[in-house]
Amino acid sequence: MQHLDNNKQHNTMTVDLLLGLQWGDEGKGKIVDVLTSKYDIIARFQGGPNAGHTLEFDGIKHVLRTIPSGIFHKNAINIIGNGVVIDPVVFQKEIEGLAKFNMDVTAKLFISRKAHLILPTHRLLDAASEASKGKAKIGSTLKGIGPTYMDKTGRNGLRVGDIELEDFKERYRTLADKHEAMIAFYDVELQYNLKEMEDEFFTAVEDLKKLTFIDSEEYLNKALKEGKSILAEGAQGSLLDVDFGTYPYVTSSNTTAAGACTGLGIAPNKVKDVFGIFKAYTTRVGSGPFPTEDFKEAGQTMAKVGNEFGSVTGRARRCGWLDLVALKYAVQVNGVTQLYMMKGDVLSGFDTLQVCTGYNYKGQTIQHLPYNIEPENVTPIFTEMKGWKADLTGMTTYDELPQELKTYIEFIEKEVEVPIKVISVGPDRKQTIMK
Ligand code: GDP
Ligand code: IMO
Ligand code: MG
Repeated sequence: MQHLDNNKQHNTMTVDLLLGLQWGDEGKGKIVDVLTSKYDIIARFQGGPNAGHTLEFDGIKHVLRTIPSGIFHKNAINIIGNGVVIDPVVFQKEIEGLAKFNMDVTAKLFISRKAHLILPTHRLLDAASEASKGKAKIGSTLKGIGPTYMDKTGRNGLRVGDIELEDFKERYRTLADKHEAMIAFYDVELQYNLKEMEDEFFTAVEDLKKLTFIDSEEYLNKALKEGKSILAEGAQGSLLDVDFGTYPYVTSSNTTAAGACTGLGIAPNKVKDVFGIFKAYTTRVGSGPFPTEDFKEAGQTMAKVGNEFGSVTGRARRCGWLDLVALKYAVQVNGVTQLYMMKGDVLSGFDTLQVCTGYNYKGQTIQHLPYNIEPENVTPIFTEMKGWKADLTGMTTYDELPQELKTYIEFIEKEVEVPIKVISVGPDRKQTIMK
């Protein structure tokens, strides 16, 4: 931990990105929190309350949704970027949840005026769309993410800055009325009281106004010129990216490195390191293909030991072995410079481990993620490795780790061609080993 806290000097005037390389829930929140002492600013660049980023320290466990994971550090400024979608109702609850920590949130949390607002009717549209899809549903978190990004790209959305306009309520009404007609079009049964939802929304909007709205791209670029360092925090994971993920079973934003540029207004040549976070195995919540999913004992053990239940919806996460084909793909798309391996402790106890090193695709062995990775097209090819028994959760140095785990780490580094710099052996801040 010592080396994580060294001074900020070498980081000045740069932006580093931190993002998930799998299907989300890799442990991004924990690592952002661990790294925050090295940065002046933490900036979330996409997603919204579909995210659940868990932090643990001093016996406290806390889940953040829209607020950047640097919020618990005294000096860091936290920014919600233009690429994020905000639900004032969820946000209000998040702020209330921070009250017990005795911090002045307004002094260190700023929101982009260009971030889009999730309306109550966006949530209803999400529910209607999913209900109409039946078995083919995405397994959305139903937070209104898809419909809000649709309105953004469709150029109909409302933004945080609109709250400051005199005719905000009229603009709201026009869009909400349109949504109601669309909900009727879906012809599915939805129980809701829009009036109640709207009252809650407008109360939350009033609360949101207590925070400072900024032109975040201006703020961030000025900060860079002043020599400040920025860590951009991603949500979800690369395999949920709307372009590069397992479409249509994805989220509606660019979760990959490019999303940080568009979601914050930071130019690509300002980006220095890209930290890619991955679990030592794989999980996925919601529908969609998952080649290395394990339906037998191994998958159940990972779920149990890893406590794999969604931090937002509580849904059980599907579990399976590490997929190096998918990991290499994510590393390539993001330009990952450093890997952070999470939850290695969960794999303690297995006699052997399986690692996917190729796909059997239509009778051929391939090493990339093809257009159609559905189970009927793709079968994973596994390499077997020796497991380890030792409990890792109390270990603090790389030397202490069992040899079989070191072999596992070296194998991944060789296949993926990027160094693993950090090994996480438990949910707490302190359970973080630098290599
Ligand atoms: P995020 O969305 O990427 O921030 O990840 P989540 O918070 O949704 O899920 C990660 C879960 O794993 C949380 O419950 C964390 O507290 C927990 N976690 C993070 N790192 C580790 C680790 O190294 N070992 C174990 N056992 N749990 C971890
Ligand atoms: P963090 O940031 C894991 C999944 C949902 C669903 C799909 C689309 O905590 O890693 P959406 O609500 O975006 O329309 O859902 O994406 N999903 C996540 N899975 N972690 C997340 O965020 C997720 N955010 C969305 O389960 O399959
Ligand atoms: Mg999560």
